[in-house]
Amino acid sequence: MEAQPCFVAARTVGVELGGGSMNGAGLLRCMRRAAASRSALAPRRWIVSASVANSTKREPGTQPIDWKSLLFSYVPTRCHVQYTYKDGAWSAASLEAEPFMRVHIGATALHYGQSCFEGLKAFHCQDGRVRIFRADENSKRMTRSSTRLCMPEVPEQLFIDAVHTVVRENIDYVPPYGSGGSLYIRPLLFGSGPKIGLAPADEYTFLVVVMPVGDYYKGGLSPVTAFVSEGYDRAAPLGVGNAKVGANYAADILPNQLSKKQGYPINLYLDPLHHRYIEEFGTSNFVGIKGSEYLTPDSPSILASITNKSLMQLAPTMGLEVVRRKIDIAEVKEMDEVAACGTAVVITPVSRVVYGDELIKVGQDADAVGPTSAKLYAKVRAIQMAEEDDPFNWTQVVE
Ligand SMILES: Cc1ncc(COP(=O)(O)O)c(C=O)c1O
Repeated sequence: MEAQPCFVAARTVGVELGGGSMNGAGLLRCMRRAAASRSALAPRRWIVSASVANSTKREPGTQPIDWKSLLFSYVPTRCHVQYTYKDGAWSAASLEAEPFMRVHIGATALHYGQSCFEGLKAFHCQDGRVRIFRADENSKRMTRSSTRLCMPEVPEQLFIDAVHTVVRENIDYVPPYGSGGSLYIRPLLFGSGPKIGLAPADEYTFLVVVMPVGDYYKGGLSPVTAFVSEGYDRAAPLGVGNAKVGANYAADILPNQLSKKQGYPINLYLDPLHHRYIEEFGTSNFVGIKGSEYLTPDSPSILASITNKSLMQLAPTMGLEVVRRKIDIAEVKEMDEVAACGTAVVITPVSRVVYGDELIKVGQDADAVGPTSAKLYAKVRAIQMAEEDDPFNWTQVVE
C-alpha cells in the first residue's frame, strides 16, 4: 500500500497513518490535531497513556510487566490499528488508543457472524531484533476466510503493513528474549455495517490488536490428555471448518468447556460424516508420528494450520516422510507420538486420548515427550528466536 499522509479521521477519531512508523512526537502531534478537530464531531476521548506521550525510542521488553507470569490472555497495550472498508475502498490506517469502539447495532458481525480473524506472533530475538513469523501466510488465510463469508479482501500489503505498524507502536510490550514470551497478534475483520435481511454488509472493519503472552511450557514440554468430543461436530462436511471464522469457535466453546471440566485441557473432533476419522483439536491441528511417517489428516473441513505447514516443511529435513490422509481414530494406539500444533504453543504433546470409555495410551512411555515432537518444537522455536538460520525465510524483521 502506498504511504499516505497522516490525517485526522472524523469517524474513527483516531490517528491515521500510512506505511511508515510514527515516533512518539509524531504520534502525539497527530493526536493533538485529532483532538482539536474531533471535539465537535464525536463524543469519544483519546486515552493517551503517559508512555505514549512521553516515549522517544522504545525498546522490546521495557514495559513494567512481570514477563514470567504472563499467560495466554488479554493484556492491554498502547494501541491497535484499524481500517474501514466503504464504497469499495479501504481507508488509511488509524491508530486507536481506546480498546473500545462504536459498532452499529445492526452490524452483520453481531447478527450473522460475518467475522473472521487470524493469530500470529512477534518475537524478540537473540540478536535484539523483533521478528514476525509468517504474516504472509496469515494474510492468505484471512483472504480465504473473508472470501467464504462474502467479505472484501484485505490486500496482503495492507495486512502486512498493519501488523508491522501495530507491533512497532507496541514494541516495548514484546516480551524480552529469554523470557519465553512473545507478542500475540490478532487481526480481525468483520461486517460493521447494518443489514437485517441476510446479505453482506456495506461496511467492514479490519483491526489488529496485540498483547504480550507467556511461554506455555515454563518448565519445558509436557504431555497432556486429549478428550474426543463425540457428541459434537466441529464443522459441517461442506461448511466453514476450513475458514478461520468466529462461528467455528462459538460452536467449540461448549465441547471445549465440557472437556476442561472433566480435566482434559484439549478436545479432539472426529469427522462430521462418519464420526470415525480424526479432524483436528478445538484450536490446533493433529499430528501423529508413526515410524518415519509424519501423519496429518486430509480433510476439507479442518483449518490449514500455518504451524502444521511449517512442521511439514521441516519434517523431511529430519528424515520424516509427510503423509496426509484420512486417519482412523483406532490408529492412534499404533502411533509413536501424537501432538497438537498451532501458533499458541507450536506443539503440545498428547500422550493419552480419552475416546468413550477407552483410554488410549500413545507410544512406549505415556509420561514422556516423544523425541520427534521435542525436536520439531525446538527447531521452530530456534528459528522464531533467530537462534538458528531461517532457511525458508519464515520471519520478517520489524524495522
Ligand atoms: C481450529 C484451529 N486449527 C488449527 C489451528 C492452528 O493454526 P496455526 O498453526 O495457523 O495457528 C488453529 C489456531 O489458529 C485453530 O484455531
